[in-house]
Amino acid sequence: MPSSTSLETQLPSALMREQIVQGLGIPRSLYLDPDLYRHEVAAMFNRSWMYVAHQSQLANVGQYAAVDCGSESVIVARTEDGLAAFNNVCRHRGSRLVDAGCGVAKRFVCPYHQWAYRLDGTLSSAPLMPETFDPAAYPLRPAQLTIWNGLVLVCLAPEPAPPIDELLGGAQELIGPFDIANARVATTISYQVRANWKLVWENAQECYHCGVNHPELMKTFSLAPLRNPEWMQARMHRSADCRVQYSPLELRGAATSLTIDGTPASTLMGQFADGLEPYTAAVHLKPMFAMVCSPDYAVVLADRPLAVDRTEVTMTWLVRADAVEGRDYDLDNLIKVWDATNQQDWALCERTQRGVESVAFEPGPLSGDEPSVGAFHEAYAQMLHAAGF
Ligand code: FES
Ligand code: FE
Repeated sequence: MPSSTSLETQLPSALMREQIVQGLGIPRSLYLDPDLYRHEVAAMFNRSWMYVAHQSQLANVGQYAAVDCGSESVIVARTEDGLAAFNNVCRHRGSRLVDAGCGVAKRFVCPYHQWAYRLDGTLSSAPLMPETFDPAAYPLRPAQLTIWNGLVLVCLAPEPAPPIDELLGGAQELIGPFDIANARVATTISYQVRANWKLVWENAQECYHCGVNHPELMKTFSLAPLRNPEWMQARMHRSADCRVQYSPLELRGAATSLTIDGTPASTLMGQFADGLEPYTAAVHLKPMFAMVCSPDYAVVLADRPLAVDRTEVTMTWLVRADAVEGRDYDLDNLIKVWDATNQQDWALCERTQRGVESVAFEPGPLSGDEPSVGAFHEAYAQMLHAAGF
């Protein structure tokens, strides 16, 4: 098969570099190779900051959130002393302690042989172990934890992860006015996409497809700035490694929010409630996290690979902490634009997955409407290179 031959003779990072130089997309083998996929999960996803929950979901002692990423799984729990993060892997014979999702617990009791862990991950009891057994020697393995604008992120890397402010600090001026820390979760939807994670990111990086495919989004979203090189130069910010990207998003006409009718779907958040001129903004931290903020609500996206051809995308809708469903917002109206857009996007990604699986697939040139796809390719090539493959 030509795809595997190319990976046998050339490092993926070198292959990507050649594609970038030629203005071409990702080669077929890099979407399909199961070994490369496993390396990507281990070296990119499990070494990056991963969104777990909004801090409002972990406000009370005993509340916890667990998320999976590839073969890994992590728990964040609220203890008497704050938040603690650890691997969701029993220190006895390795069973997962809890399933992915949010819950409340006094302790984490392994379902297999009932080793019981405190909320901070230390082992409190282990039935029928010999007297010489020291529970203190078997805490759950810790994970790194940080909070950015109320968003709880973890990193499973053994080495210290870069401080989140070093990565996203440049976006603070843009994102700060939304006061995301004082939001709460209105709802979360988890989408299972039958496509490689890179197809999902590439789709999210361009609006070349939006005009025809996203009727709901196009009611308010303006494509013009994205097609204006001066606007892009002045307003689109990217880190040198292209993993971080942030910009305002321009809306059409008098629209002030990314909603079906362009008017706010919920109570205005943060400084917008005090009269700040409405604007909308997006921030990405590849390969796992993105957020789009409107004056009245925000969506947080978490991309998690499940298999070489399957990706879970979780979207969480945040509203102001004191917004009440039915009084201040209608949930259907709140989620309508992004839920419709997501489903349209996943259908496109799944069609593309089927296409790239064909031996007939060869990546073509990018259009002038896809500069951020090129930036994603650059970020991907640099992540490959940094991982040594
Ligand atoms: Fe958890 Fe045995 S695997 S108690
Ligand atoms: Fe789209």
